[in-house]
Amino acid sequence: MRAQPIIRTIVATLVASFAIGIVGALIFMWSGIYNVAAIDPHWHITHWFLETARTRSIKMHAADIVAPSGLGDRTKIVMGTEHFSAHCSVCHSAPGVPSGDIAHGLYPKPPDLRQTAQRYTPSELFWIVKNGIKSTGMPAWNAHDDDSLWATVAFLEALPTMSQQDYAGLVMQTLMKGDSHDHGR
Ligand code: HEC
Repeated sequence: MRAQPIIRTIVATLVASFAIGIVGALIFMWSGIYNVAAIDPHWHITHWFLETARTRSIKMHAADIVAPSGLGDRTKIVMGTEHFSAHCSVCHSAPGVPSGDIAHGLYPKPPDLRQTAQRYTPSELFWIVKNGIKSTGMPAWNAHDDDSLWATVAFLEALPTMSQQDYAGLVMQTLMKGDSHDHGR
């Protein structure tokens, strides 16, 4: 019985702190002090929070996606090269091909996928490319058919060991096929 007033005080203090926290956050939001400019980088803690939330979200949402076999096939990689050179290299660059102007002002910056694609499984890459990433420049490519997206994943899987010459050869091969890029449109 004697413990009850203490518990009541603890609960009241917690509720009051929570309410003060919420009101403080609302005042901060409404004041406009927070700078949304793309040239003003996140604090370390905000960056860590967003990065962790993003990685956890990708892993959770991609958990049930089963990758098709044959992602190492040359035909798939050629098809993925066509997709990548038409839609992705402008932001992410490609071996021997710098990214375009649009990439330079984006925040977060589009990563060089030669380094970062290896952090993800094929299913996770498929999920990212199909769904995009909220509040970043990474678009969703869900208007494109799944075959083209899996071919793009096949390309991403081959990318870490791809030289400039390999990429140039793949692009030549897509040009020699002679058809325009219209997958899933
Ligand atoms: C308009 C620019 C833009 C285009 C076009 C674009 N992306 Fe992105 N992409 C981004 C940005 C910015 C990020 C970083 C998002 C973040 O930090 O959360 C990103 C992230 C990614 C990631 C996750 C990489 C990582 O390090 O976490 C993958 C994979 C990816 N993009 C693949 C693609 C593919 C494949 C295409 C083409 C079908 C494409 N992107 C087209 C801007 C772009």
